[in-house]
Amino acid sequence: MSEVLTITDSRTNKEYKVEIHDGNIRAKDLRQIKVKEEDFGMMSYDPSFENTASCKSSVTYIDGDAGILRYRGYPIEQLAESSSQLEVSKLLIDGELPSKDELSKWISDVKDENNLPDEINNIIKAFPPNSHAMGALTSLEAALSTFYPNSKNITDENENYKSICRLIAQVPILAANFYRHSQGLSFINPDDSLDYSENFLNMMFNGDNKKMHPDLVSAMDTLLILHADHEQNCSASVMRNVGSSEPDPFSAVSAATAALYGPLHGGANEAVLQMLTEIGSVENIPAFMDKVKKKEVKLMGFGHRVYKAYDPRAKYLKEAADKVFNVTGTNPLLDIALELESIALSEDYFVARNLYPNVDFYSGLIYESMGIPKDMFTVLFTIGRTPGWLAQWKELLADKDQKIARPRQVYTGYNSRDYVNIEGR
Ligand code: ACO
Repeated sequence: MSEVLTITDSRTNKEYKVEIHDGNIRAKDLRQIKVKEEDFGMMSYDPSFENTASCKSSVTYIDGDAGILRYRGYPIEQLAESSSQLEVSKLLIDGELPSKDELSKWISDVKDENNLPDEINNIIKAFPPNSHAMGALTSLEAALSTFYPNSKNITDENENYKSICRLIAQVPILAANFYRHSQGLSFINPDDSLDYSENFLNMMFNGDNKKMHPDLVSAMDTLLILHADHEQNCSASVMRNVGSSEPDPFSAVSAATAALYGPLHGGANEAVLQMLTEIGSVENIPAFMDKVKKKEVKLMGFGHRVYKAYDPRAKYLKEAADKVFNVTGTNPLLDIALELESIALSEDYFVARNLYPNVDFYSGLIYESMGIPKDMFTVLFTIGRTPGWLAQWKELLADKDQKIARPRQVYTGYNSRDYVNIEGR
């Protein structure tokens, strides 16, 4: 035993030695701590997993205090500046930047899956056009599994590779086709001569020159890279939890998408825009901030479980926003956002709680300026995050430490009691 933690149980005065690995202990080692031999043994109680590592991972590194984010060791700023969505996807999934040949094979393999089964397009047409895009996307991703039944053979690496290519190629098509349906427009076929983000915008906007300005295409690619992975967040944990029972990856991605939908996670980008619209003008900000400090409302797009410094993605997005606004003209809500940020960065309530803008604070403003409707914002996050979920899933499948995810509980209910007939209650 090299490093150990010594625990003395004050109930029994017994001393236990727990091995330390990589600075941590295994929660299961606490089970030896018992008062009576027949006891179950001690567990750690950790609602919301604030201090529990559920896996070892080499995909993404975050230092929340220093505001650092790296994919496979590469700083997010360098990747956003120099890489592309598909190259970053390959890096996340396989662990290394691809060579020229590897990258062109990967791009061609993804493009080979650039088409949806016809029946999926019929399902898209069956959704009410005014339904929320995330409800539709969650269902459509799960529906894809019915067209690819072999995807459940998750011990077959070739099959998994095909599923990965299909999800990365087809989630943007599902998104664009649902958008076109919601607008009463016909679908635009994928165009294999275009790059990933350009193809997506083309399927959304049918070659509209204004909306497909090269700077906007490049901003879209950057946004997807910035959203590509974020270690064990709510949706990645769902991907792993669901993945641990070994269904096909389409079903697991659908579950992760549902987790992303909520306003405390990926749905915050939509909620920020709603909030800025409701505030309406800079004069209304003090009254709004009073409500935040009284905890009547949240300042959406602020705060993070891990970052206790400026989210590096938000810093980069703020700069990307300027490039977009140069093309589209500034977003009238930007002044409200900048003023909210400046107040929040100086007022005690926010400073004391380390509340800084997160990735969702500026992304909605950018999307809106690009002509994307609000309920598509989290869909764009889903397109960006799909490679990250798949990287986490692939790592899970290869990890011999992992079994089906199954947390324990601290039972607080009744002891055994007898059933009472309805007349006697
Ligand atoms: N506005 C006002 N107060 C806040 C906010 C906020 N956005 N976020 C946290 N706080 C306060 C909490 O009320 C709490 O105050 P207290 O110490 O007096 O009780 C304190 O800050 C700590 O917050 P927690 O809720 O404990 O932080 P947690 O890690 O559980 O939550 C979360 C993180 C969900 C992101 C939270 O900050 C939040 O709801 N933010 C707004 C929604 C949002 O922007 N989500 C996107 C996150 S990024 C992403 O998922 C892509």
